[in-house]
Amino acid sequence: MVFHIISAVPALLDSPLSHSILQRARNKGLLDIHIYDLHDYGVGKQQQIDDYQFGGGAGMVMMVEPLYKCIETIFSKFGKMKVIYVTPDGKTFKQAHANEWSMEESFIIICGHYKGVDQRVRDHLVDIEVSIGDFVLSGGELAALVLVDSISRLIPGVLNDASSALTDSFQDDLLAPPVYTRPAKFNGWNVPDVLLSGHDANIRDWRERKALETTQNKRPDLINE
Ligand code: ADE
Repeated sequence: MVFHIISAVPALLDSPLSHSILQRARNKGLLDIHIYDLHDYGVGKQQQIDDYQFGGGAGMVMMVEPLYKCIETIFSKFGKMKVIYVTPDGKTFKQAHANEWSMEESFIIICGHYKGVDQRVRDHLVDIEVSIGDFVLSGGELAALVLVDSISRLIPGVLNDASSALTDSFQDDLLAPPVYTRPAKFNGWNVPDVLLSGHDANIRDWRERKALETTQNKRPDLINE
């Protein structure tokens, strides 16, 4: 899987992509990430990437030309691919999207800043508009990282134990059941006996029951959806 991420502040992306599971996936060649500094495609001597909005109003708007140039450069080198724009007014990102998109070969992700991008970018260059939730971030980089992380961990070989991703919260529209590790007794707080019983069927039943109970308590909307 290849991600091409276009950003006005690329340094914001560095650390999360260079550690732990994502860095290991990159080392193994399962994940390839290209980061583009939008200023390199900026207009004029100042390499301008944003300007005032037509019609007046507070906040700068990201210009169409730098994004067009950057996307065309990526297409000419790597071929056409879907372009995602992360924005608070996009459709809400869900586990089902991560599952579906983990089967694609490549994506371009545009990180917005300021007031967002010129509408012509959305009308003519973007295929998918995605929000990571009903709140506004200072920039799209954190949202892009959320997409890259949640999609990448589903690529076969990225997680050491493939079944781990399948038992994540949301994979079956339920939250995950509680988990415990050693010691079995700590400070008078005990691990449920069933998990120590070695009885696989009982453990499976307990986990299913707890997943349902946890979802009913914390996210009843998932059950009634
Ligand atoms: N950019 C700013 N806020 C965002 C959000 N909630 N989701 C995606 N991109 C964003």
